[in-house]
Amino acid sequence: MVLSTGTNKTKTAVFISGAGSNLKSLIKFSKLKKSPISVNLIITNNKLAKGLKYGSIFQIKKKIINFKNKEIAEKKILNELKKNKIELICLAGFMKILSKNFIMNFKGKILNIHPSLLPKYKGLNTHQRAIDNKDKYSGCTVHFVNSKLDSGKIILQKRVNINKNDSSDSLAKRILAQEHKLYPKAILKIFSP
Ligand code: GRF
Repeated sequence: MVLSTGTNKTKTAVFISGAGSNLKSLIKFSKLKKSPISVNLIITNNKLAKGLKYGSIFQIKKKIINFKNKEIAEKKILNELKKNKIELICLAGFMKILSKNFIMNFKGKILNIHPSLLPKYKGLNTHQRAIDNKDKYSGCTVHFVNSKLDSGKIILQKRVNINKNDSSDSLAKRILAQEHKLYPKAILKIFSP
C-alpha cells in the first residue's frame, strides 16, 4: 500500500453512524508517537450519532452528510476529503454502503472493521448468527474495502470465544473491546514496510 510515512502523519477521515467507540480508540491511538495517522475529519450520515461528541471533545472537524441522494452525498464527501487532504479512510460502524465509484476514488485506502471472523457472517446481526449456529468462537476483522460488501483483503483478525450463556449483547461487548485494540494494530501493520 502506498501511503506517506515520515514525519507527517497520514491524514485520516473516520466514517461513523453510531456510538463511535472505535472512533474514540482510533483518535486515542492517533495521538501516540508511534501512530502513522492523524484523525482530521469525522464523517457521518446520522446527525444523531453519539460518536459525534468525540469531534467536540478532541476538536476534530465533523461533517454530517444527508444520504437521501447517495450520488450527491458521495460527491460532497469526496469534496470534503479533498479539501482536508485526506489520504486514508477508516470506516467504523458506518452503516451506508459506498458506491463502486467512490471506492475507486480511494482505491486501497479505505479500511473497515467488521464484527465477525470474515468471510463468515458478512452483513448485519453477526453475533446472533454466530450464536444461532452454535459456533464456539467469533471475533472481529479489519479489512480493506472493495466494491463487494465485507469482502476486501483481510489485514488482521482477532478470535473471541463464545460462552454458553452469551447473548448477542454480551458477545458484542466482548468483541467490541477487542475491536478497539485490533483497528490500531491493523493500521500499524499496513504502514510497516
Ligand atoms: C462495531 O461493532 C463495528 O465492528 C461495526 O459496528 C460497530 C460500531 O461500533 N461495524 P462503534 O460505533 O465503533 O462503537
